[in-house]
Amino acid sequence: MKIELKNVLNIFDQDHINEYSSEIEIAYKELLSKTGKGNDFLGWIDLPDQISTELIEDIQLIAKKINLNSEIFVVIGIGGSYLGARAIIDALSHHFVQLQDEKKSPLILYAGQNISEDYLCDLIEILNKKDYSLAVISKSGTTTEPAIAFRLLKEHLEKKYGREEAVKRIFAITDSNRGALKELANIEGYKTYDIPDDVGGRYSVLTPVGLLPIAVAGYDIRAFINGAKSMKKELLTKSTSFDSNPATQYAIIRNLLYQNGFTNEIMVNYEPRLFYFTEWWKQLYGESEGKENKGIFPAGVGFTTDLHSMGQYIQEGIRNLFETVISIENSNKELKIPKNDEDLDKLNYISGKRISSVNHMAEIGTTLAHVDGGVPNIQIRVPEISEFVLGQLVFFFEFACALSGYLLKVNPFDQPGVEAYKSNMFALLGKKGFEKETETIRKRI
Ligand code: PA5
Repeated sequence: MKIELKNVLNIFDQDHINEYSSEIEIAYKELLSKTGKGNDFLGWIDLPDQISTELIEDIQLIAKKINLNSEIFVVIGIGGSYLGARAIIDALSHHFVQLQDEKKSPLILYAGQNISEDYLCDLIEILNKKDYSLAVISKSGTTTEPAIAFRLLKEHLEKKYGREEAVKRIFAITDSNRGALKELANIEGYKTYDIPDDVGGRYSVLTPVGLLPIAVAGYDIRAFINGAKSMKKELLTKSTSFDSNPATQYAIIRNLLYQNGFTNEIMVNYEPRLFYFTEWWKQLYGESEGKENKGIFPAGVGFTTDLHSMGQYIQEGIRNLFETVISIENSNKELKIPKNDEDLDKLNYISGKRISSVNHMAEIGTTLAHVDGGVPNIQIRVPEISEFVLGQLVFFFEFACALSGYLLKVNPFDQPGVEAYKSNMFALLGKKGFEKETETIRKRI
């Protein structure tokens, strides 16, 4: 993985970067000695090299069993209990997985990430006709959205297969001893996986939260973990200096840009399979840094699609944006533009070229145009999309996020603001214990 900067270093001088070097040193020390803000949620740093072989083998074995009896695997979860798995599975999957003739692994569908009645009805319609199993994932075990979806699908599974068989098709991933889901799983006798106490939702993709769905989808979780391990080694055993450490570089650049009025960061990709990787990244950075009235607003675009929609704004709108591009050097498949003797569409000038080389030219052309338009550009270059590379990217962005949050002087591991909507919703729904809020909120609507 390499980072390249364009139209960035001219915005501030070396002194500004130097000013941050001692703070970065402190941030590294605090993260590694677990003495900084949110230090009881730093277990994710140890995950790449501490995931046990027994756990990996157990997940692989369960994935095989699910493969034998299920055409669909439903992953129920929201936020950090859903986005990591979806980011990795979508990035590795065939674009038209539903239409593939031969599906070697169950199709992964998602629930509990919204409260849409139509979505859930459509899902049940599909599940009526297919064999399926499910994972219900919630660290707290009390989140409303997945709890609703799970209540519905648990009942559906029990009606479809009978209680005994339904129990074998349900996997609960939750806290090791707290929460309604843990209690329910114990009573019902579901197979459970623990989410370590010191790993928060958005940092949990290297726990069973991400690993079980990824394995069920047919992907190599060892290679994924090894990617994270190699990135950990790169970031934590080499120098922490700006010039040699990509996490230091990304964390400092983001904070310097932010201080210079670049308050919006857009993650850019040129591969539609990375859509959910961007969603995962948005959650990671948005929830980690957006607090105390501070923080960069993370957004995402997929090019060249969005060059025909958001491209105009990025080129010429308010100059408070910078881009972070995930640049993929090699595509996994090969396709060339054919020659056509009549050339009515005037495309013969690129005939014989690979589609990926045209995509790269679009990327280079866009970067130059946006740089000319005053948009700082950070490029994160990786050789291809694979389990290993995705593991590297996951650990890179997690670690850089923690550093960046410390530079911003916030706790990157909590999310107090997420509660605000919940108490209003509970009050409106008449949940026990929210009677006072119900009175106040009814007057406001
Ligand atoms: O990152 C986080 O902590 C959150 O996004 C949670 O993952 C999300 O709110 C879901 O919580 P839970 O896993 O407790 O259901």
